[in-house]
Amino acid sequence: MFHDPDFLPFTPREKPSFRATVRNFLELYPPAAYRERFFVLRGFRPLVAKTNILIDPELAEEMLITRADEFPRDVLTVRLLSGPINRDSLFFAEGAEWKWQRRAVAPAFRHENLLALVPTYAECARAQIEEWRDAPAGEPVDVMRAMSNTTFSVIERAVLGASASFDRERFLANLGVALGSIGWRRLVALLGLPPNWTPHPGYFRATAAARRLRDATVRLLEERRAESSERRDILGLLLSAKDPESGRVMTDSELVANLYGFLVAGHETSAVALGWSLWLLAKDQASQQRLRDEVARVAGEEKIGPETVERLVFAKQVLQEAMRLFPPAAAVGRQPREDTMIGPYKLPKNEPVFVLLWCLHRHEGLWDEPHAFDPDRFSPEQVKARHRYAYLPFGAGPRICIGMGFALLEMATILAELVRAFRFDTIPGHRLELAPSFTTRPKGGLPLILTPLTGARAKAARAEPAPARSAA
Ligand code: HEM
Repeated sequence: MFHDPDFLPFTPREKPSFRATVRNFLELYPPAAYRERFFVLRGFRPLVAKTNILIDPELAEEMLITRADEFPRDVLTVRLLSGPINRDSLFFAEGAEWKWQRRAVAPAFRHENLLALVPTYAECARAQIEEWRDAPAGEPVDVMRAMSNTTFSVIERAVLGASASFDRERFLANLGVALGSIGWRRLVALLGLPPNWTPHPGYFRATAAARRLRDATVRLLEERRAESSERRDILGLLLSAKDPESGRVMTDSELVANLYGFLVAGHETSAVALGWSLWLLAKDQASQQRLRDEVARVAGEEKIGPETVERLVFAKQVLQEAMRLFPPAAAVGRQPREDTMIGPYKLPKNEPVFVLLWCLHRHEGLWDEPHAFDPDRFSPEQVKARHRYAYLPFGAGPRICIGMGFALLEMATILAELVRAFRFDTIPGHRLELAPSFTTRPKGGLPLILTPLTGARAKAARAEPAPARSAA
C-alpha cells in the first residue's frame, strides 16, 4: 500500500456549490457517498433536478446488466456531451439503432484484430520516447499532454489507417478548448438549460473550436471517399456497414458522428489512464521498479509484441489500480423509462441515475484503505475475493465500452515501453488539483522529471535496490 495526500486531492463537501460544479464536480459527493449504497443529490433546490446516485455493485449490476433495457442513457449525460457533431453516434443511439451500429464496428474490436495492432501501439510509444530523448534534460515534462499525443497517434492509425495524415496538434488544441467548457456545460445542464444554446464563459470559443473539429472530421471523410480501394480500418467498417434488417447504410451525419466519436473516446480516456499510471508510479518508485523488472523478464530488450503483451501481468495491475483511483470516466449514467425500484430504492421516471465510479472505487465497505495505491489489489486472488462489479472503469452490460480490449492492450504496451526507457520522478512541492472535464483530468497537466535509461544505465537501474517507500 502506498499512501499520499494527493491521492484524494480535495475534501468532499456536505453542501452543493456552484463553484465546485464548474471546477471539480467530484467535490459535490459528500463523505456518505463513500460509505452508503444509494443517495439522492439534491443540487441547488429548487433550481436543479435531483440525481440518484448508486455506489453499490449489486445495484449497478441490476441497472446496467440485468435490467439494461429499462434504462437508456440519461438526459444529463446526453445534454452535457452531445453536440451537433456527435449526437448521431453509437454512444447516444438507443434500441435497434444502437444495436446495428454497435454490430457494424464490432469486428474491429475482436481480440485477434487488437493483437495485430500491438506493433502499432509499440511504435507510437517509441516515437514518444524519441521525442522525450530530444527534450532538454531535467526539465519537467507534462506526461498527460504527451500521452494525449501518443494515444491519438494510435487511434488515428486504427481508425484511419496507416497512411492518414492530418493536423493532430491543431485537432488536439481545438479538442482541449471544446472539452474545457464541460464544467460550465455541466452547470447549465443541471439548471435544465440546453448547453449547446446557452452562453456561458468560454461559450463562443468552445463553439468555434467544435465547428473546426467538425470541419476537420468532414474533410477526413471526404478524403476517404475520394480513394478507390476499400480498407478494413474502423472508418472502412463504418463506411461499409449495412443494417441487416433494413439494408440501410450510415448517413453522412452518422458517419461524421462516429468518426469523431472514435477519434475522441478512443484516445482521451486511455491518455488519461496512462498519465495517471505514470504519475502514480513516480510516487511509488518500488512499483515502478517492479514493473521495469517485469518488462525485462518478459520482453528483454525486444519491442513489446502480441506474444509478450499479455504476459505483462503487473503492468495490467498498475493500470487497473490507476483506473480505480482515477477512473477516466468518473460516472456512468442512465435513467428509467418508467417509475421503478432498484433494490429497495425508488427511481422516478426520467430522473438521472449515476453509478458513481469515483466513489464506488473508493468505497469504504469494498476496499481496504481505499485512497492508497496498491496494484496487488488486482492480483487474481484479490480479484476473485471481490464482487465483480465493485470495479467498473469501462461500465458493464450491453453498453460496456466497446474499446475496452483495445485500451487494455494499448496501455500495457505503451506503459511497458515507457518505463523501460525512462525513470519517472515527481517534482518536489507540486500539489495536485483536479479539474475533471470529459474525463478525470488534473489541472495544469501532470509534470514529471524523466531520466533516460539506456543500455548499461538501464541495467544498472534494474540492479539498484528499489528506493524505500515513503509510507506504507
Ligand atoms: C481507458 C480507456 C477507456 C475507458 C476508461 C473507457 C470508458 C468507457 C465508459 C465508462 C463507457 C460508458 C459505458 C456505459 O455507458 O455503460 C464507454 C463507452 C464507449 N467507449 Fe470507452 N473507454 C476507454 C477507451 C475506449 C476506446 C479505446 C474506444 C474506441 C477505440 C472507446 C469507445 C467507446 C464507445 C464507442 C463507447 C460507447 C459504447 C456504447 O454505447 O455502446 N473507448 N467507455
